[in-house]
Amino acid sequence: MGICTSWSELNPCNLPTRDLASAVRRGVTDAGGIALEFPTISLSEALVHPTTMLLRNLMAMDVEEMITASPIDAVVLLNGCDKTVAAQLVGALSAGKPALSLGSGHRAAGGWRGQTLTIDDSWRLADERRTGRIDDDAWARLEGCLSPTPGVCNVLGTAVTLAMVAEILGFALPGSALLPAASPQRLAVAEATGRRAVEAARRGPAPRTLVTREALHDAWRLVCAVGGSTNAAIHLQALAGRADIDVPMDELRRISETTPTLVRVRPNGPHSLEELEREGGVPAVVRELADVMHLDRPTAGATTWRDIVRDLPAAEGPALRPRTDPIDPRGAIAVLRGSLAPSGGVIKRSAATPELDGHVGPAVVFDGLDDLRARIDDPALPVTKDSVLVLRNVGPIGAPGMPEAGAIPIPANLYRAGVRDMCASPTGG
Ligand code: FES
Repeated sequence: MGICTSWSELNPCNLPTRDLASAVRRGVTDAGGIALEFPTISLSEALVHPTTMLLRNLMAMDVEEMITASPIDAVVLLNGCDKTVAAQLVGALSAGKPALSLGSGHRAAGGWRGQTLTIDDSWRLADERRTGRIDDDAWARLEGCLSPTPGVCNVLGTAVTLAMVAEILGFALPGSALLPAASPQRLAVAEATGRRAVEAARRGPAPRTLVTREALHDAWRLVCAVGGSTNAAIHLQALAGRADIDVPMDELRRISETTPTLVRVRPNGPHSLEELEREGGVPAVVRELADVMHLDRPTAGATTWRDIVRDLPAAEGPALRPRTDPIDPRGAIAVLRGSLAPSGGVIKRSAATPELDGHVGPAVVFDGLDDLRARIDDPALPVTKDSVLVLRNVGPIGAPGMPEAGAIPIPANLYRAGVRDMCASPTGG
């Protein structure tokens, strides 16, 4: 049994995978297998420059080649930060041996000046620092409080979204995606994952039988229902490509339009990942969407989703709303097409105030990141609260590699005037 780890001191989000590897090994041994741990490259969103997206496929190839070339019958993938999940799933899918996935789990929330902080607060705090509301000493103290434990970003960003995707596709055990990094239950799940991997080595399934059109649809429906990361569209397309399945943007749009938004977890609302986990996590969301999900697909636990949701109670909130009383009858992610994105783009409308849902305004265009940095805080920038900020040349070709530039800072003169929200597209957690 291979344990493919993306542990690295250069990737704080993935540090918990070292303990998880030991627990997986105990499970493998318990089930009569022999576990051998091996490393691959690891990609940290916070530390890799200029962008991890340049290296996702390199990591996927590393994972694929190591699984293919090594004398192992199955593999447990240990991941965490955004691209490490995507790269491991893509690599394992191509390698073809049975694979189970387990993530680091999200880090604890921070605290500062009486506020509970999650990582999405960092944009607002950075705006406050740029506009002189937080001085150097306070910023240094804040940096020590924002992320108090290892683990992935503690909001519905890309890492947690992809952990949920791994669960719905059948790579991660049901109920595992939202367990916090510090939870002892995560170690228990790691042991169970090791045991289950030995069984999978004997009887499958192979990853290609998991990644079907129906499974990809269910994954996107889950993302649209919970308000997950828009980056999921990019990584699901990569998985679909490896499985020789074409999932056009219009198909994603139709799914979004027929999926209610059910979850109000940061950055889409006031609730926490812990609340969503206590209310049942991925299985509870699947239960609410039972009429539009493919429940006879397998989970990673040798059951079907129908088995998992059969006896679950109906959602009552506050983090997860029932299907009969959604936050929005439309999905949290909108798929758009127009002159700025002729091939299609995605936008997370659930994270914006409703007034930003539809908007017409004058464009303020930046030619790239250097131009953005040079002018965004210029008092002479011709920008109003009705402006549409356009950042050119940060796509897959222009940047290159498509850095996450969705979070354009709010221009300093608008921030000082009280503007605190804007809607970002096409990428961003
Ligand atoms: Fe690693 Fe967000 S920086 S999960």
